[in-house]
Amino acid sequence: MTPRITFVVLFSLLCLVPTSSLLLSLHLQVAFTVLQVWRSTITLDLHNVLETWVGLDVCSYTGIYCAQTLAVGGLLVVSGIDLNHFGLAGTLPEELGQLTDLAFIHLNSNQFTGSIPKSFRNLKLLTELDVSNNQLSGTFPSVVLSMPSLRFLDIRFNAFEGTLPAELFDMKLDALFVNDNNFASSIPENFGNLPASVVVLANNDIYGCVPESIGRMSSTLHEILLLNNSLSSCIPKEIGNLVELTVLDIGSNKFVGPLPESMGGMRSLEQLNVAENNLSGEIPAGICELPRLRNFTYSYNYFDDDPPICLNLPKYSDDGNCIPGRPAQRPQEECTNQRFHVSCATAGCNLA
Ligand SMILES: *[C@@H]1O[C@H](CO)[C@@H](O)[C@H](O)[C@H]1NC(C)=O
Ligand SMILES: *[C@@H]1O[C@H](CO)[C@@H](O)[C@H](O)[C@H]1NC(C)=O
Repeated sequence: MTPRITFVVLFSLLCLVPTSSLLLSLHLQVAFTVLQVWRSTITLDLHNVLETWVGLDVCSYTGIYCAQTLAVGGLLVVSGIDLNHFGLAGTLPEELGQLTDLAFIHLNSNQFTGSIPKSFRNLKLLTELDVSNNQLSGTFPSVVLSMPSLRFLDIRFNAFEGTLPAELFDMKLDALFVNDNNFASSIPENFGNLPASVVVLANNDIYGCVPESIGRMSSTLHEILLLNNSLSSCIPKEIGNLVELTVLDIGSNKFVGPLPESMGGMRSLEQLNVAENNLSGEIPAGICELPRLRNFTYSYNYFDDDPPICLNLPKYSDDGNCIPGRPAQRPQEECTNQRFHVSCATAGCNLA
């Protein structure tokens, strides 16, 4: 092509259709096709939201959000999907992975079945994925591990099972919710690599010990909920490093040994639940002296002493222990069982 012809071609293109709207129609045309495929797989639409999913203007569909890209021309693209609480049943088709401009997907409280499409590996811009409270199943959706921008991952209240991959804890997540699934997994050694402020693994069958690496989460971790699992062994003393932590719940597990003295350094702690384990020894006074602690539940263990300062907390519960002079304690014969007087220095990670 001579420069002159190039000029003419370019000039006529620019005159006929502005480049941005030409590109716009390409991106939104793909979105149109993909969303129509998805719509056809939906088997239940309680609030009739999909009645708005007609015509080429996908940006006007209920639950579909468009935004302009930062690139020159300000291309309009589908940047988000928010169908929370819409009572939809169906699946997530592979075609959704073609919506490569997506920054967020919020599908919580619907009845989606199946799993997360493998094609989601193409969603390199996705920062938030919330599929909580659906009926998704299968093993951990490993496709999320190939989403470099993901910061918020919420798959709680589904029927996922199997183990949690170690790579999950090398992601740059701010929040991780995998609670209320059927995961049967240990917590990988690299757990402490996760820079999240909130981590919820509750109500699964998570077993084994809490890795010492948890101590490395000191500058970021604000809440961690591990309750109602099968975690065992002693509580690692490194937990005392978590100076930003406000909520710690390890209730209803199988922890043994004492509460580490180091926990007296968790100066931001407001709520602490260690109830229903096989913990023993004295409650460290340093814990009850924490300046922000409002609620400390340590009932149904084998503790044999709590300093008076613990009984001055706004809220505490010490029932079902072996504490002389306190009401509602265990019968003497349960308390003389030496089994729970373990030495954590030698216990290691595998002690049941
Ligand atoms: C505890 O977790 C199990 C699943 O491991 C669940 O079935 C049960 O409802 C949970 N209990 C509570 C009180 O949430
Ligand atoms: C405590 O230990 C006893 C005896 O080994 C066991 O039967 C019980 O299930 C344990 N309870 C918890 C909450 O780990």
